[in-house]
Amino acid sequence: MKMMLSSLILLSGLSFATVACSPAEESVKTEEPVPSPDPEPTPEPQPGNGRTLVVYFSCTNTTKGIAESIVEITDGTLHRIVPEVPYTSEDLNYNNSSSRANREQNDPSARPAISGEIENFSNYDVIFLGYPIWWGKAPKIISTFLESHDFADKTIVPFCTSHSSGIGSSDTDLHELAKQAAWKQGQRFNGNESKETIKDWIESMNLNVNQNSNVGAFNLSKGENGKAPTVRLSSGYDMPIIGLGTYSLHGDVCVNSVKAALASGFRKIDTAHIYGNEEEVGQGVRESGIPREEIFVATKLYPNQFGNPEAAIAECLRKLDIGYIDLMLLHHPGTDDVKAYKAIEKYVAQGMIRSIGLSNYYIKEMTEFLPQVNMKPVLVQNEIHPYYQEKGIVEYMHGQGIVVEAWYPLGGRGHTAALLGDGTISRIATAHGKSSAQVILRWDLQRGVVVIPGSSNPDHIKENISIFDFELTAEEMEQIAALDRNEKHDWY
Ligand SMILES: NC(=O)c1ccc[n+]([C@@H]2O[C@H](COP(=O)([O-])OP(=O)(O)OC[C@H]3O[C@@H](n4cnc5c(N)ncnc54)[C@H](OP(=O)(O)O)[C@@H]3O)[C@@H](O)[C@H]2O)c1
Ligand SMILES: Cc1cc2nc3c(=O)[nH]c(=O)nc-3n(C[C@H](O)[C@H](O)[C@H](O)COP(=O)(O)O)c2cc1C
Repeated sequence: MKMMLSSLILLSGLSFATVACSPAEESVKTEEPVPSPDPEPTPEPQPGNGRTLVVYFSCTNTTKGIAESIVEITDGTLHRIVPEVPYTSEDLNYNNSSSRANREQNDPSARPAISGEIENFSNYDVIFLGYPIWWGKAPKIISTFLESHDFADKTIVPFCTSHSSGIGSSDTDLHELAKQAAWKQGQRFNGNESKETIKDWIESMNLNVNQNSNVGAFNLSKGENGKAPTVRLSSGYDMPIIGLGTYSLHGDVCVNSVKAALASGFRKIDTAHIYGNEEEVGQGVRESGIPREEIFVATKLYPNQFGNPEAAIAECLRKLDIGYIDLMLLHHPGTDDVKAYKAIEKYVAQGMIRSIGLSNYYIKEMTEFLPQVNMKPVLVQNEIHPYYQEKGIVEYMHGQGIVVEAWYPLGGRGHTAALLGDGTISRIATAHGKSSAQVILRWDLQRGVVVIPGSSNPDHIKENISIFDFELTAEEMEQIAALDRNEKHDWY
């Protein structure tokens, strides 16, 4: 009987009220949550990643628990919808056809007033919206919330908790109240879901928000020499935190370097149209014997390609000849960079390119660029090494949920001698029985910066991915941080 009843309940929220709550169904009734409103709802907005807002209404705190998990996973900001007139237990009595909740649900014009406002609402891109199911629907206070905010360019992700009803049409019924928003399909929870389950749901939506991916703090204990850990990009894809740089590698040297890197355990390769070696990189990947999907390939469009980005992207895909591209960057700011980026966004939507990033963009360029595009760049690749550390920029990008990647990590071809021979770095290297190159690369990873050292020497390549068996102390990290002298080794 209980099973049959549950099925009925799932089919209709209304049947919940009329069947499950009938006095005859004592056994089911005892399973019902006794509505006991939160006595002192205290809305406490938390600082978050700046893009994700988790708004919820909850009388008995079931929805609150799910909302808090979402905040933890997305690093978003929490906001509780507090009714101006709190709901008492009697207000919530679903057995009483004239209870306040019942009257409101049956009155199309009911709009219970909300107390307080959400600060900086316009700054959020993604809004999770949680509510309990009341007779199969969202409480009317959710309509009040939707009608009193501007949702243009925002994504709304509805979620609900209920005793047993599904989300039904409670989410789609709300669409007409915020027509400008992009609505995701709603999700029902019973309130006991694990964080893993909630995380899987969030990841499945590819919301392009920072899913607590720790873009600035890698779990290095997961790495082994020859096997680098990955970082979760805001696109939802995982990227190895060390890759092979291929600038200035050509012909067989390039093909063999790529193959040597993949054989040594590298799973990320960085190339660019302007390096003139996309064909060789693609060949190395294809001939490596390693499944394509295990390898992460990044390439870049050069500013002289921004005018006709579709042709440029098609050329990259053709030259690489490895199916999709994992990450495409704009190599530099330049005329038509927004146009080029938006063209890449279309390829992302089609799945030919998985993630988009930028290179040689600093804070000024980013603040101008970001409002003009739809998908947040997952990564920014800039010149970074101990003599040019970009501390403020690294902090800014991480705050945005953007991975930072260092080009010229060893100082750049032709400039490595000074860095590799630096007294402080050499001393630390000796203390750990490691090379200077390994110490520099490890320093980057420990400060949350991804590295792409370039090399055509198989011994160096192997050495560069053997940096997971030692750790720099906080003092050593500081000593290297103190080497910063704002010394750029290239003009961009
Ligand atoms: N976005 C941009 O604007 C931009 C600009 C420049 C570079 N990049 C990217 O960043 C990558 C890295 O930059 P890069 O390759 O120019 O410079 P780099 O990685 O700083 O240095 C490469 C130099 O270091 C040497 N090296 C590598 N590993 C070594 C080791 N373990 N011990 C001693 N020497 C070692 C290499 O020589 P061997 O070949 O002999 O090992 C090569 O001469 C590039 O390949 C490219 O993919 C991007
Ligand atoms: C007035 C009212 C009506 C309800 N109607 C339903 C319903 O139709 N279907 C259902 O499964 N649960 C129903 N419930 C149970 C709630 O949806 C469920 O307990 C929810 O998780 C409460 O969330 P909260 O603790 O965040 O307020 C109702 C509860 C109340 C108070």
